[in-house]
Amino acid sequence: MYSNDGIGIFDSGVGGLSVLRELALLLPRESVCYVADAAHCPYGNRPAHEVLSLSVAVVDFLLQKKCKLIVVACNTATAAAIDELRRRYPHVPFVGMEPAVKPAAEQSKTRSVGILATCGTLQGRLFRQTQARHAAGVRMHLAVGDGLVELVEAGREDSPEALALLRTYLQPMVDDGVDVLVLGCTHYPFLQAAIEEVTQGSMAVVNPAPAVAAQAKRLLEQRGLLCSDPAAAPRYDFFSTGGVEALRQMQARHLPQLAAGRCAFYFCEV
Ligand code: DGL
Repeated sequence: MYSNDGIGIFDSGVGGLSVLRELALLLPRESVCYVADAAHCPYGNRPAHEVLSLSVAVVDFLLQKKCKLIVVACNTATAAAIDELRRRYPHVPFVGMEPAVKPAAEQSKTRSVGILATCGTLQGRLFRQTQARHAAGVRMHLAVGDGLVELVEAGREDSPEALALLRTYLQPMVDDGVDVLVLGCTHYPFLQAAIEEVTQGSMAVVNPAPAVAAQAKRLLEQRGLLCSDPAAAPRYDFFSTGGVEALRQMQARHLPQLAAGRCAFYFCEV
């Protein structure tokens, strides 16, 4: 692994772009190889063993591309696969999504915290351990956001359907005095405007992506793997196992700061 190799990022779809957005802000010289496993999206309701084998296939692809660090930019894949990925590839630094229960519990004044995530994430050991460790004395309102990933993939994050679906998940939390909401799926930051409309700003929204980007930076620093070329012009290579159009449109709408000339989109099989 060399400092001028790229960073690998993957998700079931476009959700990981919410992590890439933070990473590119913090590490503007780093090149990135992003994989959206769109052919198998969504991951959320698949059994853990299936998400694990899909994740291993994507990681093999990213390692062939010589990535120096891999960000598992998907809460569901982190829950199902990160322990095994670290076991299988001990030389590869991995960063996963942390369920941000601790900062949310610390921030809540009403002692009532909401978590919106996929079924796979909420059932995972990582989430249950974090909850047991950091949520003592805090009421936790868990909601599975079925249907939200599909709406974000379709570019309908501000649609009436998104608002209606969010209302069914969030209104019970509003009624119960939740004042901090954790976004437990990387697709959900793209729903932030709709979430604020539904909750009328009554909840602080915690997006774990900036902390994940900071952890990636720390690991690269520790291992001497930060890009060392002062004139580096980063490249962003986007791969999809399905159509690339969703990625292309999301990048244009939500990450216009990644100059178009530096972005390339490819179909891939993993
Ligand atoms: N973005 C994902 C996550 O963070 C994937 C959700 C899905 O594919 O269901 O969990």
